[in-house]
Amino acid sequence: MAEVATAAREYLEATRPVVDAALDSVLPGASAIPESLHAAMRHSVFAGGKRLRPMLALAGAEACGGAREVAMPFACAVELIHTYSLIHDDLPAFDDEALRRGQPTCHAVYGETIAILAGDALQALAFEVVSDAALTSGNPLDWTRAGRLLASASGSVGMCGGQTLDVEAAGHDLDLDGLRQLHALKTGALLTASVVGGGMVGTGDATAIRALTDYGDALGLAFQVVDDLLDVEGTAEELGKNPGGDAARDQPTFPSLIGVEASRAEAKALRDRAITALDSLPSENTEPLRGLADYVIARSH
Ligand code: IPE
Ligand code: IPE
Ligand code: MG
Ligand code: MG
Ligand code: MG
Repeated sequence: MAEVATAAREYLEATRPVVDAALDSVLPGASAIPESLHAAMRHSVFAGGKRLRPMLALAGAEACGGAREVAMPFACAVELIHTYSLIHDDLPAFDDEALRRGQPTCHAVYGETIAILAGDALQALAFEVVSDAALTSGNPLDWTRAGRLLASASGSVGMCGGQTLDVEAAGHDLDLDGLRQLHALKTGALLTASVVGGGMVGTGDATAIRALTDYGDALGLAFQVVDDLLDVEGTAEELGKNPGGDAARDQPTFPSLIGVEASRAEAKALRDRAITALDSLPSENTEPLRGLADYVIARSH
């Protein structure tokens, strides 16, 4: 598994510059008016980040027999939504964090008001990018379906819903099923939408979309279990964000509910479930998705 995770890390490293170039082309320049807003948006998008969700979108298209590049606008859109969610997650009203992606958080540099607007504007830009792709693609209905999926995964029955459950859970007890539901919404929904939306614009059929959904649901939960573990075990240097915040906020997490060892076993079992889901994909080009699943549980940041 270590070699597969290494291959996936190399896949991530090789693809990141292409994704970054595409993101650069869709974001207004830092000198576009209002400069403060565009500088803040660019600060957070280009501060770093693993680009896992864009990679999942590209790999999802590939697994459906589509060309990777076809899904690039969708890959950009999911990263814009994700970055918006990070900006808002770090605000004083949420986790009140000073460090993100190895850099000072958006509000620490630009102030809360501009940071809120930068998040809002990144979200709007994501749907502009998807709509543009729909207008120019040969399969506009697939793009519309993918855009709709991205919207619901971001909203009150997706990430925003999960963030609501998350802030309401701080200082309270939650059982494991409740925590699974919270994680599935706050993190899982966008991860699933990344890979499934990539499959949709890559013209995946119903069987492929079902398989990608099962893969994404399992991997999304695995991803957040590992995020919880890293908050206990990681260092700021490795993570590019300060660890320990979950415990400081008395946030229910997998390690706080079932302990570190059982959390690791849970992440591994979810990774296995994600890999098994790929068996029903007709395409042979599922290697990137297999590697990304290993990477998610082997990662140290
Ligand atoms: C962090 O996501 C936020 C969560 C959903 C747990 P990532 O760990 O993917 O953050 P970046 O994009 O690499 O900075
Ligand atoms: C936030 O979860 C997930 C989002 C929707 C942004 P966390 O609060 O655990 O994310 P980190 O640990 O700050 O990256
Ligand atoms: Mg949070
Ligand atoms: Mg946080
Ligand atoms: Mg976290």
